[in-house]
Amino acid sequence: MKTLKNKKTTLLLALTVITALLVQSFSFQQPQPKKLKNIKVFPATATYQEVDHAMDQFKVDLGVKCNYCHAPEKDNPRKMDMPSDANPKKEIARDMIRMTDEMNKKYIASIKHAEGDTTNIQLVTCNTCHRGAPKPFSKPLQAPPPSIGAKMLAPVGK
Ligand code: HEC
Ligand code: HEC
Repeated sequence: MKTLKNKKTTLLLALTVITALLVQSFSFQQPQPKKLKNIKVFPATATYQEVDHAMDQFKVDLGVKCNYCHAPEKDNPRKMDMPSDANPKKEIARDMIRMTDEMNKKYIASIKHAEGDTTNIQLVTCNTCHRGAPKPFSKPLQAPPPSIGAKMLAPVGK
């Protein structure tokens, strides 16, 4: 009788261990989808994957690496802290996204194209201005229109 009870206990224990291992390996195979923590401009419905994809595009359009806009982790400077706003370029980038969005919605979208003319329909992207550089250009390529005022667009320090 006593040995039977012991056997039962052993079996129960073994089952518990196996279940625990199964649960653990399951959660290893199925990592929870990564959560976004500090999103202010992208739509609330955006997934981690979509944001990550947009980030790769920023990198190419501006010719920079992730650390151009993102700050390192406080206790591990070799890792990036993506949700942190400690790098001021990130806030500039937020305004750039708002600006680009507004240009498209307010001005580009209302352009009337001739019927059947789909070849040249495009939207403003970061690359429209940046062309692979963090600052689009260092000096005006041509004289700015007089109405804008030459002073405002003159190269800094001249
Ligand atoms: C031009 C600047 C810029 C570059 C370069 C950039 N990011 Fe971002 N990133 C941002 C901005 C701005 C946000 C916040 C967007 C918002 O508030 O809606 C952000 C948000 C994120 C988030 C979401 C963090 C969270 O949970 O709130 C991740 C992840 C991320 N970036 C990863 C990357 C990776 C990986 C790279 C390099 C491939 C990269 N970023 C390059 C500007 C940048
Ligand atoms: C209409 C043109 C235009 C578009 C579109 C545009 N930018 Fe910019 N961006 C500029 C100009 C001009 C500057 C430089 C301003 C300055 O510092 O004098 C700039 C500066 C920046 C800077 C700061 C660079 C630095 O080193 O200080 C970041 C970051 C940036 N843009 C990100 C973006 C991102 C991301 C997008 C797309 C979502 C974007 N920009 C779209 C014109 C544009």
